[in-house]
Amino acid sequence: MKRIAVLGSTGSIGTQTLDVVKRLQNQFDVVGLCANRNRTLLEQQGAETQCTSLVVLDESVGGGPVRSGMNAAVDLVTSPEVDLVVVALAGVVALEPTIAAIRAGKSIALASKEVLVAAGEPVMNLVRELGTAMTPIDSEHSAVFQCLQGGRRPAKVILTASGGPFRGKKREQLAAIGPKEALNHPTWTMGGKITIDSATLMNKGLEIIEAKWLFGLDLEQVDFVVHPQSIVHSFIEFEDTSVLAQCGWPDMRLPIQYALTYPERVASGLNSWNPVESSNLTFEAPDLDTFISPVLARSALRSGGTMPAVLNAANEEVVKWFLSERCGFLQMADVIGQVMSLHIPEDPSLEAIVSADQWARETVRRSLKLE
Ligand SMILES: NC(=O)c1ccc[n+]([C@@H]2O[C@H](COP(=O)([O-])OP(=O)(O)OC[C@H]3O[C@@H](n4cnc5c(N)ncnc54)[C@H](OP(=O)(O)O)[C@@H]3O)[C@@H](O)[C@H]2O)c1
Repeated sequence: MKRIAVLGSTGSIGTQTLDVVKRLQNQFDVVGLCANRNRTLLEQQGAETQCTSLVVLDESVGGGPVRSGMNAAVDLVTSPEVDLVVVALAGVVALEPTIAAIRAGKSIALASKEVLVAAGEPVMNLVRELGTAMTPIDSEHSAVFQCLQGGRRPAKVILTASGGPFRGKKREQLAAIGPKEALNHPTWTMGGKITIDSATLMNKGLEIIEAKWLFGLDLEQVDFVVHPQSIVHSFIEFEDTSVLAQCGWPDMRLPIQYALTYPERVASGLNSWNPVESSNLTFEAPDLDTFISPVLARSALRSGGTMPAVLNAANEEVVKWFLSERCGFLQMADVIGQVMSLHIPEDPSLEAIVSADQWARETVRRSLKLE
């Protein structure tokens, strides 16, 4: 029995994690759940899993049997009752409890890519130092992780991207896009923030940074290709040019399950992928003149230090304002670029990362004239 805590249990990844765990109930015991403010669903999940350690991050909705605030989340993940923490909060808010869990010797199944985007260097230093078992949940990184079993080293990693709902559109066609159109993803059903990141292709930029840290790669070793059918979840290429890919229907329950059961593979109950049913797999180069976010992410990684934390925080902030119709679709990347141009990167200590994050959020709000 692995005893697990789920941070972000009420979200898209969190609820699918609980689905997987329910099917594999003789292997997992849910001992802690944490959401932001959806207390109703959290308590329902608590009742279904017979888990009594429930936390909401938002202190205004805590009380009674539900503890609240970041300290309560840290207590939850560091409890001696927990073996493995599923990190699936939307955003860099997951950084503090993830670090606490790593320091407490827990295994980590990581969905919240923002943790590695903002703080890849200090987090991976800790992971190496403490020998933490960290498995990726992001489907592309799970694909790479699966292809790398057996201690292989890739020469190159090629992530795949669906291209989002606006694939093929040019800048002038995107100017008037609002949240409703951008939230309509062609292949994946996900939380709001990652769906907008997919529409701008920032998601791929974040994933390039995530891949660099997870697999110890140089920036030049990570690239991506647009694959609208989302069947091939990523490729790795070896020195001799041989390429491996991991394929399957787009269903997050598979990478979630592998992150939980690794190194074992167990029956998933999912539909087998049939190559004949997806015989029209296509691959194309991304249009980086229209979708500039991956270029910004590469540039942030090249600048190094606290710059990726600034990219991440500025992105979280513009997405939030786009969703409330206070920032335009194209304006999101433009503002992130402006904020990055004002930042002088520092060494990425955790303190410097937190302060760069706050500075980036304030600078976005000033740039959008929201302060
Ligand atoms: N969804 C996917 O298919 C997918 C795939 C790969 C990677 N990921 C990554 O997994 C993470 C979670 O994504 P998701 O799609 O599951 O997101 P989601 O559906 O929006 O769920 C997010 C979870 O985080 C909580 N949350 C939301 N905003 C928060 C905030 N400001 N502060 C603290 N907690 C907050 C939510 O709590 P409440 O419900 O209480 O608001 C919920 O439990 C993201 O980092 C995403 O990039 C997701």
